[in-house]
Amino acid sequence: MPGATFSTKQSGNDMKIEVNGNGFLVDKVWSDAEVSVMQAEMDSWKSFRYHNVVITDAAGKTVKSGGTNDPHVVLPGLDHFGFPQDLTGKTVLDVGCNSGFYSMVAKLRGASRVMGVDVSSLYTDQASWLRDVLGFSPEEMTFQAMDGAALEAMQEQFDVVINLGVIYHIENPMNYLRSVASVTRGMMLLESEMLLDPVVSEYAWFIEKEYGCDPTNWWIYGPKCLEGMARAAGFSRVQFNGFLWRPEPGTKTPDGFQRQGRGVLSCWK
Ligand SMILES: C[S@@+](CC[C@H](N)C(=O)[O-])C[C@H]1O[C@@H](n2cnc3c(N)ncnc32)[C@H](O)[C@@H]1O
Repeated sequence: MPGATFSTKQSGNDMKIEVNGNGFLVDKVWSDAEVSVMQAEMDSWKSFRYHNVVITDAAGKTVKSGGTNDPHVVLPGLDHFGFPQDLTGKTVLDVGCNSGFYSMVAKLRGASRVMGVDVSSLYTDQASWLRDVLGFSPEEMTFQAMDGAALEAMQEQFDVVINLGVIYHIENPMNYLRSVASVTRGMMLLESEMLLDPVVSEYAWFIEKEYGCDPTNWWIYGPKCLEGMARAAGFSRVQFNGFLWRPEPGTKTPDGFQRQGRGVLSCWK
């Protein structure tokens, strides 16, 4: 994967940041004291974390949040399936931003302004902290605790919306998709757990129990079903780009459900 680099400022010093398969690399050498403070902050996320944010300084000292998802490992797959490589001058909204990994990537790829929203303020606080550590300006990158189904209240539109790993957590998906469509000016990248079997591509599976032991999972959609929903929500052109992840055949979730895949759609207004 090509690394994305971007010069930014932290405490008045230029700091170059790169993101690659190992996480964020910065060209600054942090003191042991700075590293301990950063690691202590990340350790405090332990009871509420998803992204495993990893940052390595120029001397090879690494801090990591230790979440269950390595977004720097997922990114090449997203890139292959439509995550924009060049966001120069674009405004970007990251819905369900979690601790902000993809918001940082959008800024590294040239976005003029990035806004991240998440229903949990614990996550938007993590994202704001990460923004400050990486030295991005709060004017160009803001995080706000907000329900993705209530985005109309922002009265603003964004050139690009990244909407990754959220929709299967949404009980009322059409309200949510209409809300996201209302703030999208250009395109939305939509990633979700999706049904693998082409025979049920036009169907949705209501997760009545705890698929993946996560009671916040509500629906898993077939690609064609989600395409139609995105069109009905206000996107004029919708395209399924493919499955970026498939389990080994026969893989079950810990609670015994057939594990499905992760797919990506591009949706244009
Ligand atoms: C599986 S994580 C995905 C995080 C990130 N987008 C990614 O792909 O790595 C789901 C995220 O969506 C957030 N979320 C769930 N429901 C939401 C809602 N109604 N509005 C905004 N964010 C929501 C969660 O708090 C969580 O951060």
